[in-house]
Amino acid sequence: MSDKPEKLITDDGLRLDGRHADEIRPMKIEIGVLSRADGSCYLEWGRNKILVGVFGPREVHPRRSQRADTAVIRYKYNMASFSTEDRARPGPSRRSIEISKVSREAFEPVIMAELFPKTAIDIFVEILQADAGTRTAAINASSIALADAGIPMKGLVTSCAFGKVDGQIVLDLNKDEDNYGEADFPVAMTQDGEITLLQMDGNLTPDEIRKGFELVKKGCKEILEIQQAVLRKKFETPVEETESEA
Ligand code: CDP
Repeated sequence: MSDKPEKLITDDGLRLDGRHADEIRPMKIEIGVLSRADGSCYLEWGRNKILVGVFGPREVHPRRSQRADTAVIRYKYNMASFSTEDRARPGPSRRSIEISKVSREAFEPVIMAELFPKTAIDIFVEILQADAGTRTAAINASSIALADAGIPMKGLVTSCAFGKVDGQIVLDLNKDEDNYGEADFPVAMTQDGEITLLQMDGNLTPDEIRKGFELVKKGCKEILEIQQAVLRKKFETPVEETESEA
């Protein structure tokens, strides 16, 4: 772990990576990067690098896991052993099991699983490089991979954290801010603003949480625009093409 910087917010109010309190890290999304998956996404967010593959709706193994009235949604978050500063131990951990569970729950309100009884929809997340905010980054990538797989959803899910650093509420913590900050508060929401994930590490006052939520709403709106642009680019048929085909 790097040494604690003297200050995480400089005298001119900027964070150590040059961002203002209300700015997210730069995000880059590629869709359909895995040929064997039904849907996939590669996402970079700051120094985070994440790959998601979606499979299904498909037959459930083991069969006793089937549900007669709905598809089962399975979400597996995994950190590559080379993704962190110290080697991440391969295999499931308490942390990865918890992140998989809360992330699955973040998608349950939007995925129209009832249309595919007795099947499974599998979301596999591989964290290739981690720099804080991997669960939120993975949710943003999973939304795109699910859409790429053609899974019917009521809308996209977007996710972003806010936190407290040097006593200030800031959006989308990077690794130093996560390590040495006072609080981290990841949130996921639907396009309609329904909260589907909410966690808190550290202590915050109700006023700080209110302020943080304003930042998260702004961050999620920006992320949604990036997600929509990626999907439009892949799936929208240019008008000229439709006309010339007619
Ligand atoms: O990644 P996220 O913020 O969703 O989860 P976290 O548990 O708050 O972890 C914050 C960061 O700590 C991760 O993004 C990694 O950069 C780092 N980490 C690590 O280096 N080794 C681990 N076993 C777990 C996390």
